[in-house]
Amino acid sequence: MKIVSIVGARPQFIKAATVSRIIRSNMAMNEILLHTGQHYDENMSDVFFRELDIPLPDYNLEVGSGSHAVQTGIMLKGIEEILIKEKPDCTLVYGDTNSTLAGALAATKLHIPVAHVEAGLRSFNRAMPEEINRIVTDHVSDLLFAPTKTAIENLTREGLAEITSFTGDVMYDSVLYYQQWIQQNPEKYKTTGLPAKYLLATIHRAENTDIPENLNNIFLAFSRIDHQIVLPIHPRTRKILQSRISLPKNVHIIDPVGYLQMMKLTMDSEKVMTDSGGLQKEAYFLRKQCITMRTETEWIETLHDGWNIITGSNPEKIESAVGSRLPVAPQQPGFGDGKSANIILEKLQRF
Ligand code: UD1
Ligand code: UDP
Repeated sequence: MKIVSIVGARPQFIKAATVSRIIRSNMAMNEILLHTGQHYDENMSDVFFRELDIPLPDYNLEVGSGSHAVQTGIMLKGIEEILIKEKPDCTLVYGDTNSTLAGALAATKLHIPVAHVEAGLRSFNRAMPEEINRIVTDHVSDLLFAPTKTAIENLTREGLAEITSFTGDVMYDSVLYYQQWIQQNPEKYKTTGLPAKYLLATIHRAENTDIPENLNNIFLAFSRIDHQIVLPIHPRTRKILQSRISLPKNVHIIDPVGYLQMMKLTMDSEKVMTDSGGLQKEAYFLRKQCITMRTETEWIETLHDGWNIITGSNPEKIESAVGSRLPVAPQQPGFGDGKSANIILEKLQRF
């Protein structure tokens, strides 16, 4: 069976690392990896291929940055050409980025089946570009791999139950697998020069970076918090920060780091503060309380017992969440058993 897997942005490299490893362990599978080039900086792309042993992409479209229409349009054209040449039995797309949308649209118009990993997530907020990408991708796909029961319910409500399977979350597989690497060699992945105790923060979502009031409020909250904060900064946020915000003294900005270093930073942190989808889950899997600086989350399973607290960009809510007691209840199952990639492989073969 020939599959073209389409990736382009940081979280997709991490998900594909786990799924590709399982797919390629099966002799009957032939995977072609297509990188759209949506993320291209060394520390937003190459580092993941290198350190997670992801095979180098067979194709890189090098689309780079642009408006949604420009970026998606250039991807569509490039992906179509490759799919016509490769004639795969199926395409595999991940998550909810513009690369996901372009991959799904290009394939379905060529009548090539589309399988969607991390299907069924909904924030019910159509102002998010990711929400549009997810809804369209799910509705043009032929196979939907749902990471949680909530995702199954969303897809069922939208009439897609027949093509949906519960697989569990491939990011949970990743945490279980790569955690062992870090435990075997913790010093290798430790970031030097940081305070001993810190809150780990990331910010990159459009609703926070592109609305000045929201970004100002987040940094106002940071300045009032009596903790050191380590912020591996997404290039999108760095560009805006440079022109607009004066940095509070307790905020330590570092360049984006590789996945293993990021996992170690999470493990060593007191709490996590983020607007990232992936990092909310990793905090949960690694037993760290998460403060989600968005007005909603797709990962509602993480909310129980105060493991994840939604604050938006409201400074008072952020401060109060930082001061809240650490949860003691154990994490609940709900993201599968760490073998999601194996289930995906089996479903693909059966398809
Ligand atoms: C994208 C996804 C988002 C995902 C995130 C993961 C869409 C619509 N958004 O957001 O869902 O959570 O990736 O990180 O697909 N830039 C660089 N170097 C890079 C990449 C980006 O400098 O290697 C800068 C450029 O100025 C670019 C900006 O970051 O314009 C935004 O990049 P883009 O890929 O459009 O969106 P993300 O914010 O990364
Ligand atoms: N991540 C990373 N280095 C960083 C910041 C994040 O490896 O400097 C990882 C993080 O651990 C998670 C993934 O990137 O696995 C999340 O990606 P991101 O927050 O960019 O996107 P989202 O998940 O919100 O789509």
